[in-house]
Amino acid sequence: MSNKIEIVQSLRGMKDLMDRDGILFSYFIEKASLIAKNYGFTYLETPILEETALFKRSVGESSDIVGKEMYQFVDKGENDVCLRPEGTAGVVRMFVQNKLDRAGGTKKYFYHGPMFRYERPQKGRLREFHQFGCESFGEASVYEDANMIIMICEILKSVKIGHKLLINSLGCQECMPPYKKTLVTHLKELHLCEDCDRRIITNPIRVLDCKNESCKIELQNAPKITNNLCKLCDEDFKKLKNILDENGIAYEVDTNLVRGLDYYTKTAFEFVSDQIGSQSAIAGGGRYDRLTEFLGGRPTPAVGFAIGIERLMELVKIEDTKDEILYIGAMNDEALDLVFSLVASKRKHMKVLSDYKPRSFSKHLANGEKQNATVIALIGENELKDRTIWIKNMVLNKEIIIPIEEF
Ligand code: HAM
Repeated sequence: MSNKIEIVQSLRGMKDLMDRDGILFSYFIEKASLIAKNYGFTYLETPILEETALFKRSVGESSDIVGKEMYQFVDKGENDVCLRPEGTAGVVRMFVQNKLDRAGGTKKYFYHGPMFRYERPQKGRLREFHQFGCESFGEASVYEDANMIIMICEILKSVKIGHKLLINSLGCQECMPPYKKTLVTHLKELHLCEDCDRRIITNPIRVLDCKNESCKIELQNAPKITNNLCKLCDEDFKKLKNILDENGIAYEVDTNLVRGLDYYTKTAFEFVSDQIGSQSAIAGGGRYDRLTEFLGGRPTPAVGFAIGIERLMELVKIEDTKDEILYIGAMNDEALDLVFSLVASKRKHMKVLSDYKPRSFSKHLANGEKQNATVIALIGENELKDRTIWIKNMVLNKEIIIPIEEF
């Protein structure tokens, strides 16, 4: 009889973030966290397990996330709980529970961590995945919407990722209900898939989002929300587009962008990439001015976003994660003073390697290479005379000589 022990595998749609993924993951978190802090956001952790009611009331009972995809169970204390499918609901719960809605002013939080959705796993779609998110409370101005969008652009740029930005307005409690009525009247005349027919009753705007090709053709002449906005929402949407134009942010208005979560009002946006297959959304977000109220708090305008880290990691190049290491060396005793002061000033910004030993050109090169320097900078007799510095970029394999002042 064989007593071979079977190896326990991880669950379907859940994976270990190790080796290459571990490097990419921590690299991204570091970059994004720094940018979030520069924008005035402070780090927040909320529990991964929450009461199921929280997501029913926020993400919405008619959404696929709540209706089909929750990891829901009854715990030993008979509580109906679930693993969070997204981060916003927990952050708003924290905001209300700690009475921050009564404090006035603005509050800004960033977070990252695992989210769970029981979806059919495929490329870019996991059952446990990670988000990096930001939520801003108390700011009703559309400038804050633009601020969040610009911040995502900066995060994506910092890890060298291209994208397309889609925006839409989902109106408010004034203009959305009459638009829904007009839409339903139109939809009832069309031949749509079973899912759409169900959604006409449960959440008609989600019909606009159907990926079925025949539905897309049927929906071509559907009334657009952007033509049915109230004066205030219309002005805000125009203003948002203006700010993005003024700041050189390219975007496309997609009137079918409705998002899969029910809490959005006004601005909705998504960042997509054409390089990661059908699951192309790398980030999504928007304004949710009524969610604090839905969860028992005082009305508080809010806007936020979340980036899908695994999808993003598909696009980041491992060579970009390597930190720059500068090696500075003196080729004679006279250069030591200058090298010493250059090392001290460069260390304020980056990792710098050096010592106090004059060496030959080739010995310095070998020494720098051995220590994985990405840039080697050397000063010898000629450089001292000309007030220059010799530099080799080890990644690009390029050499230049520049004036000391430009170093
Ligand atoms: P979401 O669009 O559902 O928004 O998710 C944000 C991002 O998470 C998506 O763009 C995608 O990159 C990633 N993502 C979603 N589902 C999966 C999956 N099954 N596997 C891998 N990645 C996935 C939200 O969750 C909102 N809470 C965003 C937000 C924050 N809105 C306002 N504040």
